[in-house]
Amino acid sequence: MSVEVRHETPEDRQSIWTVNRSAFDADAEADLVDALRDGGFVVVSLVAAIGGKIVGHILFSRLTIITSVGTVEAVSLAPMAVLPSHQRQGIGSKLVEAGVDACRKQGHRIVVVLGHPDFYRRCGFSADLASSIENPFGGGEAWMAMELVPGVLEGIEGQVEYPAPFNAFE
Ligand SMILES: CC(C)(COP(=O)(O)OP(=O)(O)OC[C@H]1O[C@@H](n2cnc3c(N)ncnc32)[C@H](O)[C@@H]1OP(=O)(O)O)[C@@H](O)C(=O)NCCC(=O)NCCS
Repeated sequence: MSVEVRHETPEDRQSIWTVNRSAFDADAEADLVDALRDGGFVVVSLVAAIGGKIVGHILFSRLTIITSVGTVEAVSLAPMAVLPSHQRQGIGSKLVEAGVDACRKQGHRIVVVLGHPDFYRRCGFSADLASSIENPFGGGEAWMAMELVPGVLEGIEGQVEYPAPFNAFE
């Protein structure tokens, strides 16, 4: 059966929580999704469904890069999850591609992510692009960025400020 990627609807809330809970084997990321949604921070939230069953989810939320000359708006990709039974079948890659596309269409210019280096590199993220931007969680090669407008990160040095729901992870 084919995979449908679409924007979340209010009816998807419980399924999205369950997909995140299953993929991370913990409540924290699932609760983070609810907190970001309830706090009004969500930019894009997509689900992957097979035959009507939600098997994957990706969320992008607003964040700010604080620089010495002002603030720069960006979005953070976090969290994303695919049910363990459906991983390594290309669903995660599809979600990233569709999610980045939706962010670009909304006029967003920068996406940052902290996660599996190989996976996100393959999706077009770069640790080099994020090297002048600090984040409160560290991460080394796992800290990456993508320019949705070529060159938009040139000369930007600063520190990201995540929305409050991420404080639970500090
Ligand atoms: C990461 C995740 C979203 C990828 O979704 P997916 O549908 O499996 O991704 P795709 O099939 O498009 O791509 C598979 C690639 O993802 C990466 N990947 C998948 N699971 C991984 C894991 N547990 N650790 C590291 N990399 C992983 C690998 O690069 C893999 O490529 P490979 O099969 O050639 O090794 C999914 O594995 C998941 O939900 N993991 C648990 C939750 C999580 O870690 N979320 C991301 C936080 S940054």
